[in-house]
Amino acid sequence: MKIAIGNDHGAYSYKNEIMDMLIKEGYEVINVGCDGPESVDYPDYAKKVADLVANKEVDFGIVMCGTGIGISIAANKVKGIRCALCTDVTMARLTREHNDANMLSMGQRTTGIETAKDIVHTFLTTPFSNGERHIARIKKIAELEK
Ligand code: RB5
Repeated sequence: MKIAIGNDHGAYSYKNEIMDMLIKEGYEVINVGCDGPESVDYPDYAKKVADLVANKEVDFGIVMCGTGIGISIAANKVKGIRCALCTDVTMARLTREHNDANMLSMGQRTTGIETAKDIVHTFLTTPFSNGERHIARIKKIAELEK
């Protein structure tokens, strides 16, 4: 499975830990940056990951910033993106089952690293339910983009 991962300066150390974990587990990871503490703008990194997801060059995208809020708001502006900010594994499971989320967002300042790793595993391994009502709602989300 191919994953794109990106972050701002508020989450580069979480990105490194999560990226190392995923590589060890056999995932193919595209890191779009940033890779240090210098201040950058999270919408730039949201767009890099979201474009890879929207163009189907990767299976899923993972984005992180201080809270996960700004970078998820930005990612959701890209057509075809359903980016879910998750702070626990239940949110990660339900956003895959119900929303067929194709991007995960987390915050380094707001979520512990062990929880973040569990969230990533849950997100990447939970299939979409394919439930009729959920498909209909996702179609309505897509209508909002027109
Ligand atoms: C950057 O200072 C900070 O605003 C960002 O990492 C994030 O928390 C925004 O939502």
